[in-house]
Amino acid sequence: MRVLGYESSCDETGVALYDTEKGLLAHCLHTQMAMHAEYGGVVPELASRDHIRRVVPLTDACLKEAGLTLADVDAVAYTQGPGLGGALLVGAGFANALAFALGKPVVEVHHLEGHLLSPLLADERPEFPFLALLVSGGHSQIMAVRGVGNYEILGETLDDAAGEAFDKTAKLMGLDYPGGPRLSKLAEEGDATRFTLPRPMLHSDNLDMSFSGLKTAVLTLVRDVEAQEGGLKEQTRKDICRAFQDAIVDVLVAKCLKALKQTGFKQLVVAGGVGANRQLREALNSAAQRRKFKVFYPPLALCTDNGAMIAFAGALRLKYAHPVAGYTVKPRWDLA
Ligand code: KG4
Ligand code: ZN
Repeated sequence: MRVLGYESSCDETGVALYDTEKGLLAHCLHTQMAMHAEYGGVVPELASRDHIRRVVPLTDACLKEAGLTLADVDAVAYTQGPGLGGALLVGAGFANALAFALGKPVVEVHHLEGHLLSPLLADERPEFPFLALLVSGGHSQIMAVRGVGNYEILGETLDDAAGEAFDKTAKLMGLDYPGGPRLSKLAEEGDATRFTLPRPMLHSDNLDMSFSGLKTAVLTLVRDVEAQEGGLKEQTRKDICRAFQDAIVDVLVAKCLKALKQTGFKQLVVAGGVGANRQLREALNSAAQRRKFKVFYPPLALCTDNGAMIAFAGALRLKYAHPVAGYTVKPRWDLA
């Protein structure tokens, strides 16, 4: 079965074709990052309009890359939520219309389920059950994943998501949008010994997290340093980025270790945009060696939003769960 998947929940238009026998046949992506950069963040109305512009050319490009036509498509999947209402409607409208015209089933996918299952698209894959660390711009959750559709939230952020903390901190440090990856790049050249920031809820007796105080701590530090140095020197900026990244990584790693101990699971899956963070990966990889568990990631190109994870999750939903057809979007939607 070949599933054509659509992702349009935020500022990326993704279209992909997944074959249940042969794997991922093609995936095409357009990112609107440059368009939103001058506004310092995603402008929802501009995002919706751009999805409309991209969806047909990307569909053509995806089918061309796979060497197939619409006649070869057996089902259409799309991100139903959570995300920006108008942006979601573009994918929902297009996918429903296409499926109707082709006389094929349409399947709605939860965006986070797409992220959660994306490591199953890598060469080295986990087996159910596994623990998942889902860290994106909108969510930070630790989940027990026992099968397709069987998800239990064990802990989550009480305020900002990890990616949101990266983005907001980057903004207050004067970095351009998208701030998260930029901050992370600067942190790699920072001195880890110069500043220390708090590790919120590191020792709390649950798996919940909190990241909003960290950004305030950075703001205070930046102001103090600016007053002392008469501005923010380039190396100081890198050192602060490093201190921030160290704090987030420490908390995420500690919570994962705690959750692994609590569940007894031996496999950890890391998904969502922050999963692309190199320092987080290195820290988790070395913890995995020490503590004898295995850690899995999606292919790097599929860490951030993409159509491949939606086509794939759609295919699994068609196989294992009972998709409910209906032309709706759910801008707010809990996975578990
Ligand atoms: O999963 P994703 O593409 O979109 C959402 O569903 O939110 O995640 C985007 C988030 C952004 O907050 C971005 O700053 C963050 O992932 N991100 C990173 C890195 N790459 C993306 N954060 C830290 N380090 C990175 N290398
Ligand atoms: Zn996402």
